[in-house]
Amino acid sequence: AGVKGTASERTFIAVKPDGVQRGLVGKVISRFEERGYKLVGLKAIVPSKQLAEQHYADLSARPFFKGLVEYMTNGKAPVVCMVWEGKDVVRQGRAMIGATNPLESAPGTIRGQYCVSVGRNIIHGSDSFESAEKEINLWFGKAGELIDWEPATWGWIM
Ligand code: PPS
Repeated sequence: AGVKGTASERTFIAVKPDGVQRGLVGKVISRFEERGYKLVGLKAIVPSKQLAEQHYADLSARPFFKGLVEYMTNGKAPVVCMVWEGKDVVRQGRAMIGATNPLESAPGTIRGQYCVSVGRNIIHGSDSFESAEKEINLWFGKAGELIDWEPATWGWIM
């Protein structure tokens, strides 16, 4: 997940199937782009049950675990997985997303603007640098799926 506390820090962000179904992928990408973060990985997948269970392993004892895994894996829409890079991106990403329960998410945050239900809260973001490392490896395991690139300093339109 890059180097914590530097401009190479990385986080894992996923638009969940309800967010994809509702056409919110572009809004999410725009917010991270406009904030100044760099997109270094992007793909749409219907995760296997095993992948979703690994992703949410810490929650396996919770009553909503089964429903959460079903919602992520049922294939009614894919999960759009992203890795974003930049200064303090793990913490800032969480702040941009807003509180887990959308009814507690501040207006102007992604959840505070687009949803009302904790079980359909449209987006996931890593909650710590350590989680980001784990989640990036889990969802983007294969070599070559993440791209190191440098924004041109001279502008691109010519
Ligand atoms: S905890 O342990 O209560 O603090 O968990 P929390 O960080 O609040 O939530 C962890 C993830 O579980 C999801 N969640 C739920 N999904 C479905 N139904 C219910 N009731 C529910 N409660 C919590 C929550 O959206 C978090 O998912 P991610 O994808 O990490 O945001």
